[in-house]
Parts: sequence; structure tokens; C-alpha cells
Amino acid sequence: MDLTAIVKSAFEKAFPEEDFTSVRVVPATDPKFGDYQCNDALKFAKKMRMNPREFAAKVVENLDRTSFEKVEVAGPGFLNLTVSADWLASELASFAKASHCGIPQSGSGRKVVIDYSSPNAAKQMHIGHIRSTVIGNAIDRIFRALGYDVVADNHLGDWGTQFGILIKGYRECLTDDERANLTVANLEKCYVLSAAKAKEEDGVWKDACKAELVKLQQGDAENLALWKRFIDISIAEFDRMYAKLGVKFDTYRGESYYNSMMPAVVERLEKAGLAEESEGALVVKFEDERLGVAIVRKSDGGFNYTTSDLACVESRVKDYDPERIIYVTDDRQQLHFRQFFAICAKLGYTTRLVHVPFGLMSYQGKAISTREGNLIKLDDLLAEAVRRAKAIVADRVPEGVDVDELAEAIGYGAVKYADLSHDPATAIDFNWDKALALEGNSGPYLQYAYARVQSLLAKADECPEAHDRRPTAGGFKVTEAAEKRLALHLLEFPGAVVRAAEAYKPSVLADYLFQTAQLYSTFYQTSPILKSEEPVRSARLALCALFGEVLGTGLHLLGIRTPNRI
Ligand code: ARG
Repeated sequence: MDLTAIVKSAFEKAFPEEDFTSVRVVPATDPKFGDYQCNDALKFAKKMRMNPREFAAKVVENLDRTSFEKVEVAGPGFLNLTVSADWLASELASFAKASHCGIPQSGSGRKVVIDYSSPNAAKQMHIGHIRSTVIGNAIDRIFRALGYDVVADNHLGDWGTQFGILIKGYRECLTDDERANLTVANLEKCYVLSAAKAKEEDGVWKDACKAELVKLQQGDAENLALWKRFIDISIAEFDRMYAKLGVKFDTYRGESYYNSMMPAVVERLEKAGLAEESEGALVVKFEDERLGVAIVRKSDGGFNYTTSDLACVESRVKDYDPERIIYVTDDRQQLHFRQFFAICAKLGYTTRLVHVPFGLMSYQGKAISTREGNLIKLDDLLAEAVRRAKAIVADRVPEGVDVDELAEAIGYGAVKYADLSHDPATAIDFNWDKALALEGNSGPYLQYAYARVQSLLAKADECPEAHDRRPTAGGFKVTEAAEKRLALHLLEFPGAVVRAAEAYKPSVLADYLFQTAQLYSTFYQTSPILKSEEPVRSARLALCALFGEVLGTGLHLLGIRTPNRI
């Protein structure tokens, strides 16, 4: 029985004329106050000019006590609730039976587009690309778990002046062999060489790059084919990284996809009277919103990032009709998104547009920069993660387990969790020792906790007197304090998933999982499982199985693999 519904109905019985829709029962902040609490009596008492303790006492008088062992009015009118063993057992039983691990399918029939990772083509992904990829993918997984129809869209930076420089560099700065076996690394190399030459004083190289760009923009077949080849090679390389990270996109509509739509977008802005000429450029001014000025057509007639995002939103609304579009980028793009969303509002879009900004990442205490020499390629970082993970597990790999596969699961998991365990909004530091710590808030710690409970369950099944992991006739039976805290916390899993989605913060789920694992560990240390007598034994095993399911599902939502044996 839903506790909020029970308590709400007591409020209504006590004061039939009042509206108590906002009444909530929440987990107690401290177990010494009971299991749950309701803090709403104060607010309503104040509104109704009543003494809050008297108000609360009247609610308690009208409360159906079946689900509670103890009900107390504390302090200035808090309701402290201790649930009955029967209530807990029956909640656990229905949670264990629930599909989707109890996660409400509130997104069913609703569509969202999630725009994340979105690297620039012709460059190798580096350590700076982790956050958008990993946070975006976790949000993607969480929304899918809630039943949303998600379009994961990689908004590649695949158009712009850099392609003039690249085409010129490709033709002049690479060997025949390099051109024949073109890789992203070579593209990056020829870009650097060509860009350096474009800075030469006579301007000859720069003009040649520009000429290549103009040819490309005008649809020259040869340049277009080259451009296409650069993009295909880039996507193949990105996909190699995404495969390691368990990231999959539904579409790769880069900036180029919207290129032809930009003139019409600008025309629409002009027609709506939203854009005006300023120093040769076309701009949107945001006097009311205090957001400065956004250029939508440069003085040379070219379009920019804002124009491209405006064309993109129009196209997404037309093609997918989503209720929401979520953009995951670093927080230096906040002004861009505020301006661009403000323009969308003026144009009358009703789709909810959400920017999820994340803070910068530093590496082992130092800003990530070419100057620091730590602009590490993502490929190298992931290889290092696997190497370090392998060193940790090497001497205790269980028989029959593929050590490379295990090292990948742990290494990639460590890198992802090191990011996901922090609020996206904060700046973070990536540190190997912390990421790979077996104790503490890390990916490997949670993976170990998962594997340990799986091996416990496997062991239980091997016993001659094996019992079903689901409690048999006896059902769930929670007796010890540590066991109860774990059990109550497990019931909060669906709520944690919902909160993570509402806040666009996978860290909410990561925090929840870490707490769960800690509660499990206390339970494990204080309450014997396999050595207990029936029916306690099978009831505890069932709780372990439930813990495994919650932890496994949660890690999956963060995109972290869960080996059964470590
Ligand atoms: N390519 C951009 C960058 O590297 C991110 C694109 C984000 N998505 C968007 N629709 N603007 O910063």
C-alpha cells in the first residue's frame, strides 16, 4: 500500500474541506525518527492557523494504522512513521514481482531527442569528450528505462571552414600512402600542417583553403566526395570508441545535414521581425532577456552555430515531433543555448528544450590542455584503463573468466563511473587511483559488490537444500535493523531513477547505488545468510537477489557492465 495515499487520506478525513494533493511521505532522514516521515502538517497548520502539533495529532487520530508499527508526532508537528513487518514484506514481494524493476513507465508513448557526444569530425576523440558521451548516454538509458521513445542523435561537427583547410592539407601534406590508407590520425595531422601554413604571411595557402571550401559549398563533386570520405572515416573511428563504451546512436545528423535549411530559417526570423541588420550581420537582440545579441548570419553572408541549431530544431520537430529535446554539452555553451532557446520561444516552438551543461574535467589535478601535454586521446585513456584494471584483477581471475573481457568491463566501468558519480554541473578531476579504487565510491567497488552477491546466490543454489531465490511460502521476513534499512532502501530504486531523469543527473542514481551497496555490506556483515535457519535463510537470500537485481539494473542504466564473476 502506498504510504503517501494512506497518510493523505488521514489528512483528508481530519480536515475534509482542505486540498491535500501536495502531501508526501518521504524516507526518514535518520532511522532514529522511524522509517518514513511526513512533514506537511506544519505547512497546512500554518495555512489553517492551527497549532501544528494539534493539527498533526488530529491527522494521527484519523490514520489507518494497519501498515504501521509506530506513529509519532515529533517536534513542531512532524509525523514519524515506522512500518509494520507485514507491510514491508508485502511491499518487497510486489517489488520483486514488478516488471522493469519497478521503474514506472511514465514515458511510454512519449518521444524525446537526446543530442549528445557530438564531436567534431576529422579529429580523434580525446579525454575532453568523455563527459558529453557518458552523461548523455546515461540520460539516454534512463529515459528509455522509463519507457520513453528516445532518438539518440549525434550532432557531429561535420561542416565549416575547417574542411577547406583539410581538403587542401589532404592534397598537399600527405603521402600517397597516407592518402590511400586514410585514418583520422592522418586527417588530424594534415589539418595541423595545413592550418599552420594558412597562417603564413603571403596568404596564398589561406586563399587556396578558402577556394577549396567554396568549391565544397558549391557542391563540387570531387571535394564533396573527399568531404564524405573524411566524415565516413571519422564516424567509423568514433564508432570504435562508442563500441567500447557501450554507446549507440540512432542517427548521426551532423551540422551538414541542416546546411541547406539555413537560408529558410533566417528568412523566417526576418519575416517574424525577430532579426535585424547590425554592422553587416543579421542579429537577434535580447534586450528583455538580457542575453546580449546572437548573430544568425555573419557579415560575409555565412551562417553559424546558432543558425544551424535553429534549422536543426525545426527539422527535429518536423521529423520526430518530440515532447522534449535534451542537449548535453559543456557549460561554456550556456549562453548559446539560452539565446537559441529564447529564439525558439519567440518562433513559437512548444517542444521543451533542455540544456544539460556539465563542468570541465581536469586530469590528475591539471587542466586538460595541449600545453600540459595531457590532451590524452580517448583511445589511449581507455587502453590505459584496461591495462590498469588488468593489473588489479590479474592474480585472482576466477577460472573460466576471460581476463581481457573482465579488464575491459572494469576499466571502462571505472572511467564512466568516475564521471557519472559527480553532479554533471560541477567541474571534476579524473584521478586513476580514485577511479579504480576497490573501496569507496567507484565503479569497480559496485561491480565487485554485484559479482559478490551473484556468487553468493550461485553458492546457495548449489547447496542440496537449495531454495528458490524468491522467498517460498514464508515470503520476505525482515528482522534485523541493518536488513530493514537495506530493504527500505531497495524500495526507493524506482524513485531514484525518476529523480535522476527529472534532474537530468545520472549522479542521483549513482549516489543511490553506492548507498545501496553500503547498506548491503552492513547487512552482510551483521546478518548471517547461508548459515541461517529456514525460513530466515531463504528470505535473506531473496533480499540478496533483490539487491543484485537493483544494483545490476542501476549499473546498466549508467552503461556499466556487470560481470557475474570477478
Ligand atoms: N559539436 C559541438 C561541440 O563539439 C557540440 C554540439 C552540441 N549539439 C548541438 N545541437 N549544438 O562543441
